[in-house]
Amino acid sequence: MAKNIFYHKSFISIDQVSKLGIKLLFKTAVKMEKIVLKKKPSHILKGQVIAELFYQPSTRTFTSFLAAAEWLGALTIPIHEMATCSSAVKGESLADSVKTIEQTTAADAIIIRHPDDDSAEVASQAAKVPIINAGSGKKEHPTQALLDLYTIKKELGRTKNLKVIFLGDLKYGRTVKSLGKLLTLVDKNLKLFLVSPKILSLPNNLVKEWQNKGVKITITENLAKVLPVADVLYVTRVQKEWFAKENKLALYNKLKGAYDINLKILKLAKKKMIIMHPLPRVGEIAGEVDQDFRAVYFKQMSMVYISEWPYLN
Ligand code: CP
Repeated sequence: MAKNIFYHKSFISIDQVSKLGIKLLFKTAVKMEKIVLKKKPSHILKGQVIAELFYQPSTRTFTSFLAAAEWLGALTIPIHEMATCSSAVKGESLADSVKTIEQTTAADAIIIRHPDDDSAEVASQAAKVPIINAGSGKKEHPTQALLDLYTIKKELGRTKNLKVIFLGDLKYGRTVKSLGKLLTLVDKNLKLFLVSPKILSLPNNLVKEWQNKGVKITITENLAKVLPVADVLYVTRVQKEWFAKENKLALYNKLKGAYDINLKILKLAKKKMIIMHPLPRVGEIAGEVDQDFRAVYFKQMSMVYISEWPYLN
């Protein structure tokens, strides 16, 4: 078997990321984009085995990891149905499943999505090979945050002096937690506007942590009040699955329509701002917004990011 090129480094949390690491990663991303643009697959992962263990549904993360591994020449073991078709159904622990997959597939790295907040840590302690966190419970989605920052850089030409609105479900959503950590690292002048129904507020410990790092945070339910100053409007869906788990679907039905991003409200926003969303969306951004040049949520996940921003070109 080829030497494992991953050096046993798991990627669990944005807490592991440095400014230098981001610089190197973005440089590498540009090289990777060229591979896809030229339609010339690379062989740098030839002989490596990449397994994907997904215990929660996914469209973007699952397919993009799979496509990336294939484009780089790895052998892939993609398992989308861990929650319903693996021995987890019989009660097998995550740690045992990870140890098993290592043995049965000779995996050199394992990508995991799981509903437990500490799942990536648990898996990395059980595994001999690196674990990549593709979304852990309500806690982190670090690779999403990296591509979100890449999107901001590509579209606005900077990652500093930003005014960013996080809108929607800031309690259960994991993407805002990872992106907030990342922005806090790279932008010493960051201004964050946390816009949500009170019941879906960002957990207080994170608000305090980011404030202690110098971030200016405004908490409000009123989007119209803060939209005019924003460089980035980062929209998230109200996460039905967590309400269902807590038997609170009636509450979900009350909250799901709390915000509606449409062309009318966007009249309040600057021309030079971007609308992001990790997706999937379930009604919080109207279809009519897709044609607005500020809407970048489909490009946000693209293998080749081409900015068509009219003010930078
Ligand atoms: N953004 C994101 O994580 O989407 P999926 O759930 O489809 O992977």
